[in-house]
This record gives sequence, structure tokens and C-alpha cells, in this order.
Amino acid sequence: MKFFIDTGNLAQIKEANDLGILDGVTTNPTLMAKEGIKGTEAIANHYKSICEIVNGDVSAEVLSTDFTTIVEEGKKLAGIHPNIVVKVPMIKDGIKAIKWFTDNGIRTNCTLVFSVGQAILAAKAGASYVSPFIGRIDDCGWDGMDLIGQMRHIYDVQGYKTEILAASIRNALHIIKAAESGANVCTCPLDSILGLLKHPLTDIGLAKFLEDAKNM
Ligand code: E4P
Repeated sequence: MKFFIDTGNLAQIKEANDLGILDGVTTNPTLMAKEGIKGTEAIANHYKSICEIVNGDVSAEVLSTDFTTIVEEGKKLAGIHPNIVVKVPMIKDGIKAIKWFTDNGIRTNCTLVFSVGQAILAAKAGASYVSPFIGRIDDCGWDGMDLIGQMRHIYDVQGYKTEILAASIRNALHIIKAAESGANVCTCPLDSILGLLKHPLTDIGLAKFLEDAKNM
């Protein structure tokens, strides 16, 4: 499973990249706004900076909701750097635009996916990635991992090439479950990635080894 970091924060992207396990980055308008990025030029420059840190796919989201403007915006985003993947919302014009991008060699990430029906449509349109929002599904009392499992089964049976990108990850257990359920990619906040490191027996064991090493 590939690891993406889900943030627009350059320091966190650098920290995750320095671990040597980072395969890419996802952003969204909320995450970009959180970093105080405003205006077309600043947005493009920020994506450029992210692409200079990480050698992997970087999702940049369109802000339009009609076919023509999504295509115009997506072409500009894709022109920023070869690693940019155009993130398009799961709406009627979004699907139409994903098909257009697919036919014209521009890679896409279909975002805001909450059902298998939506996941089938995204795959049919040729999306490179599809992003089911696990945490937000869990927040509503359903099990987000069931969706990943169902998508994995359907994509395998149908031979769809779209990669399942588990998104809206809230903790380390989500990452483990996403891997178990067959996600191709997991996009995570830095804290959830670092959470995978934690085990009290590791800390206790290391403290004992370092103590005993004094007698070596
Ligand atoms: C996916 O690409 C989204 O940016 C993200 O995972 C949404 O997560 P949230 O539900 O924590 O906002």
C-alpha cells in the first residue's frame, strides 16, 4: 500500500518525506486555506513547492463544478508539474470531466466518494484514483472499511485499474484496516502515520537494552 500525506503544510510534508516512506500528497481546499494560501498564483506556487519536496503524485483540487470550467482549471493545474493529479468532485459534471481528462492524458483523483455506486462510475470514467472518505463515513455510524472492501471486490471482479485511495483517515488503526481491506493507497495526517510507530513494549524494551548496554 502506498502512503500519501493529507495536508498542505510544507513542514509536515518534509517530515513525512524524510522518513523515506512517502509516496505522494493529497490536498483539498480546506487544507490549503488552513495554510493561508490565497489567490491563483499563490496556490500554483504552493503546489510547485510541494512537488519539489516529494517525488510522487500530488492531488490538486479544482474549485469549479461545471464541465467546461473544471476542464479549463484542471488543464492549468496539470500544467504546474508532471506529478500533479487533478482532484475532481464526484458530481455529474465531475464524472464527465474525468472522462475528458482520461481521454486527454491527464490523471485524476475522484474525491468525495461515499458509496460503491459512485466508485463504479469513477472507475468507468477512468479516474486514476478514487477517494472514499473513511472517517466521515464512520462519523455517521457506518463502517467506512466496508466500503473499501466492497470496492476492492468489485474493482477486482471487473478488472478496473483505478487505484483505491483511502481518505479521511483519523488514526493509525484506520491505516492498518485500509491495508487489510485492499486499499492501494492511504492518505493520512502525519499524526496517524507516526501513530504506527507506537508500542509501549518497544519503549520498555529499548530502555532496558540501553540500561544493560552500560554493562557491556
Ligand atoms: C482526501 O483527499 C481529503 O483531503 C481528506 O482525506 C478529507 O479528510 P477529512 O474528512 O479529515 O477532512
